[in-house]
Amino acid sequence: MDIEAEIRALQLDSAEDNNATLIPEDAKPEEVEMTDKVEEEGMTDEVDTKSQPVQAEPKSFFIPFSLPSLKDKEVADMDCAEVPDEMESQKKRHLNVVFIGHVDAGKSTTGGQILFLSGQVDDRTIQKYEKEAKDKSRESWYMAYIMDTNEEERVKGKTVEVGRAQFETETTRFTILDAPGHKSYVPNMISGASQADIGVLVISARKGEFETGYERGGQTREHVQLAKTLGVSKLLVVVNKMDDHTVNWSKERYDEIESKIVPFLRSSGYNVKKDVQFLPISGLVGTNMKTRVDKNICPWWNGPCLFEALDSVEVPVRDPKGSYRMPIIDKFKDMGTVVMGKVESGSICEGDSLLVMPNKAPVKVLAVYCDEDKVRRAGPGENLRVRLSGIEEEDISSGFVLSSVVKPIPTVTEFTAQLQILELLENAIFTAGYKAVLHIHSVVEECEIVELLQQIDPKTKKPMKKKVLFVKNGAVVVCRIQVNSLICVEKFSDFPQLGRFTLRTEGKTIAVGKVTDLPSRSSA
Ligand code: GTP
Ligand code: MG
Repeated sequence: MDIEAEIRALQLDSAEDNNATLIPEDAKPEEVEMTDKVEEEGMTDEVDTKSQPVQAEPKSFFIPFSLPSLKDKEVADMDCAEVPDEMESQKKRHLNVVFIGHVDAGKSTTGGQILFLSGQVDDRTIQKYEKEAKDKSRESWYMAYIMDTNEEERVKGKTVEVGRAQFETETTRFTILDAPGHKSYVPNMISGASQADIGVLVISARKGEFETGYERGGQTREHVQLAKTLGVSKLLVVVNKMDDHTVNWSKERYDEIESKIVPFLRSSGYNVKKDVQFLPISGLVGTNMKTRVDKNICPWWNGPCLFEALDSVEVPVRDPKGSYRMPIIDKFKDMGTVVMGKVESGSICEGDSLLVMPNKAPVKVLAVYCDEDKVRRAGPGENLRVRLSGIEEEDISSGFVLSSVVKPIPTVTEFTAQLQILELLENAIFTAGYKAVLHIHSVVEECEIVELLQQIDPKTKKPMKKKVLFVKNGAVVVCRIQVNSLICVEKFSDFPQLGRFTLRTEGKTIAVGKVTDLPSRSSA
């Protein structure tokens, strides 16, 4: 069965012909609630405060990070979306960029080089890293050490936790999320990608490396499919290691890689003409990154360099007046309880009253931090640290959602979804009783398929008539999914970002899906 062709059938895509019925990035803003409305339906009474382990603990390039003390502000009675935004006043737009791709493709090296070229790392630090890398017999990893900050990562030369850093160009503030490429750390990659707006897919052009990364079981394909599912709507594909002696800035090699990847990106739902841009770089040497590559090195490249390409990416449309939703990815204690996450919808202000869901815990916003800056207000798309009163840190888990009071996020233990089966484990069949790990925004939960409802005909995209008892690779199926504890989810048609998910079994992504229906009593 040709899985790649079948993925097109999943209506999660934005395939070039645009014949899909539901297109995440095309989901109209009107579909999202424009303002908070008081809803009569009550929330479900079940409250689950069970603590879940925090899966990925994003590290920060700017550690140690200490929060400044609070100052009194009177902003509470203004409409939050109207409070002037300090970040906005700087006139710079903000984009979250996740670096994805197979292990050793050069994600951390490229991320490190970006920080070096944007003047955030001085020569002395680079020399120190060069020495440290040499002592560990990893000479060529010194640039990656800028992003790979912990000892395990430096010793093994592999990113484990999502690295986080900021840099700015003339027009844009970027948050870089450096995902791990190793297959053992895909859950961390998922967490990184779920916070991103755009992706940089790093591909190694080195002989043999492109092939290993791209074959079935390699992370190039898995990362692309996950990124698309997680809402990364635009991709810059950087063909890296062009300086390597097996490549030597060869146009043939570059063209070969591009021509092999394009059909796969298309089948994964990317509109290649509109949403994907390719470019050659050397992350290690820093070529074609801040300035265009010299014609003496690469006479055939007439396109942009990486910084230019990043600068020209459009910021996704966001609604600052939507109902507030911020999935929590991490929490810690610091003069109160501080939660971290990316605002998916709405705006937050100092003094706001919000709910931590699914526990329905009322909290007050004491302070909001965007990168290192304390701000009065922050809108959608921002990665924030929010200090709260009214809740203890131990009562919060990753996967909880900081949510508007008047229209809180629905909480469920069951939902209906449309799934695209990618590749099941050998000999496995997908049927009622199938267990997997569900990843939806920052939630990671065991789940069970309790009933297959309908199989979708990939050609007509309509439900098939005959009753479905099991499906195989490539199938599109509507089913009921159950989890043991209450989780926060949205219907894909309401909030695409909080309504799409992946299922994984034994460390492998076996399906991607979207939430199509919630039990009526769940509507919060
Ligand atoms: P994971 O975090 O483990 O997924 O790897 P990664 O994609 O972050 O790769 P990393 O940056 O750690 O680089 C892996 C190896 O590739 C290191 O030895 C780098 O020096 C080398 N490398 C990265 N970019 C380039 C490049 O542009 N040219 C050459 N020649 N080597 C590179
Ligand atoms: Mg890395």
